Amino acid sequence: MTNDRMQGIVFRIIRVCGILGVVAALSFAGRRAAADDAPKPWVVPDDAKEVKNPLQPTPENLSAAEQLYTDNCTLCHGEKGAGDGPGAKAFKVKPADFTDAKMMKMETDGALFWKMSEGRGPMVSWKDVLTEKERWQLVLYLRKLGKDAAK
Ligand code: HEC
Repeated sequence: MTNDRMQGIVFRIIRVCGILGVVAALSFAGRRAAADDAPKPWVVPDDAKEVKNPLQPTPENLSAAEQLYTDNCTLCHGEKGAGDGPGAKAFKVKPADFTDAKMMKMETDGALFWKMSEGRGPMVSWKDVLTEKERWQLVLYLRKLGKDAAK
């Protein structure tokens, strides 16, 4: 066998192993996500709860947030934030309802920020996707959705 052919075979083996590795990792992650679906309390660390929103609900922040929300969150949380987006039915866990005044009163801004940053189960972790500023803008918007629903 020539050296070249040998190399070709070795590369092919590495490639197949790589693909199998990715498949195994994904199915492991999928199982972990499924285990996370159980409706157990979602505990936010105390120091995260106390973090204050550094932004004010200015028209600029709210309009940026509305766009971010439409692009990234409506699918599951619904246009008005009631947790009834077109994708919501696909999950065992209902996406949070931001129009639920009782729930929203219990959550600090810091807790909402932490949860959207970390994610859990089908709830995406946004910290690597959206900047800190964008996530705080979204916290302002979730508060606005709650107020709009109460009108
Ligand atoms: C793929 C569906 C999906 C998308 C997209 C999604 N979410 Fe969620 N979200 C969920 C689900 C499901 C939960 C409930 C998770 C749980 O309780 O385990 C949740 C929970 C949350 C919570 C926690 C509420 C609370 O107090 O318990 C916040 C905050 C949140 N989402 C914000 C957002 C924001 C902001 C976006 C867009 C940037 C977004 N989500 C996009 C599915 C989604």
